[in-house]
Amino acid sequence: MNDSVLDQLLTHRSIRHFKKRALTTEQVKKLVSVAQHASTSTFSQQYSIISVTDPKTLKAIATITGHPWLLDSGHYFVVIADQYRNLQIAQKQGADPFILHTTDKFLASVFDAAIATENIMVAAESMGLGATIMGSILNDSMQMIELLNLPKLTFPLLGIAIGYPDDQPELKPRMPQSEMHFENRYQLPQDDAQLDRYNKLLAAYYQKRGTNRRTETFSHHIVAELGRPHQVRADLLDNIKSQGFLINQTGSKM
Ligand SMILES: Cc1cc2nc3c(=O)[nH]c(=O)nc-3n(C[C@H](O)[C@H](O)[C@H](O)COP(=O)(O)O)c2cc1C
Repeated sequence: MNDSVLDQLLTHRSIRHFKKRALTTEQVKKLVSVAQHASTSTFSQQYSIISVTDPKTLKAIATITGHPWLLDSGHYFVVIADQYRNLQIAQKQGADPFILHTTDKFLASVFDAAIATENIMVAAESMGLGATIMGSILNDSMQMIELLNLPKLTFPLLGIAIGYPDDQPELKPRMPQSEMHFENRYQLPQDDAQLDRYNKLLAAYYQKRGTNRRTETFSHHIVAELGRPHQVRADLLDNIKSQGFLINQTGSKM
């Protein structure tokens, strides 16, 4: 057992303040290499990584995500679902590419991209860097598609801002395992006791942490998430389909 790996995983925190220092080409290559060595569904390597270095594109992504601090990061990746590359292979080989358009393959791309993203996170932290994953690029997936010139059968999934940490946020306590680790069957909660305890724990964390102190429990947090306008990201399904994904098994678009 490698305790240092476990210790690092158990002390992960997202970093949103960076020193103004760019990653080197070697660091970037190392991170991409680590991403590539992650498990990949059916060995199809159905995702790609775009390093965004153009200041105008970065600014546009800062606006889309609402995260201006990404401009201070030392490197910015966007991880995309990518069945386009395998479509090219299929076409060259004269194979029927239908399956590449299915929900199954879209999900496989999402799994691959997410696992590669986490490998980048873990590797970055092991290199003394800090990072934050950004699902908020999906606030405007159509603009992301245009900005990155994404062809059909690709889709933007996650941004990752990486850099030299300029703060050390306190660890966010996770829920008790009894709430999320079950044996054999899904376990419905017996009462609210565990959740109440976790709500108190999280409220204490938010009260005493260094920055952005607030009064918030886990239940408040979930309800706040539900309070966002319904039109935010409401175009996702249409946009995913317009990129050629999620064709149903009879061959017609759902
Ligand atoms: C799929 C995914 C999307 C995320 N998107 C964002 C984001 O858009 N902006 C952000 O600030 N953090 C984002 N995060 C980071 C989470 O907010 C963070 O992991 C969570 O609050 C737990 O905090 P910790 O990572 O510091 O433990 C994302 C994390 C994941 C896994």
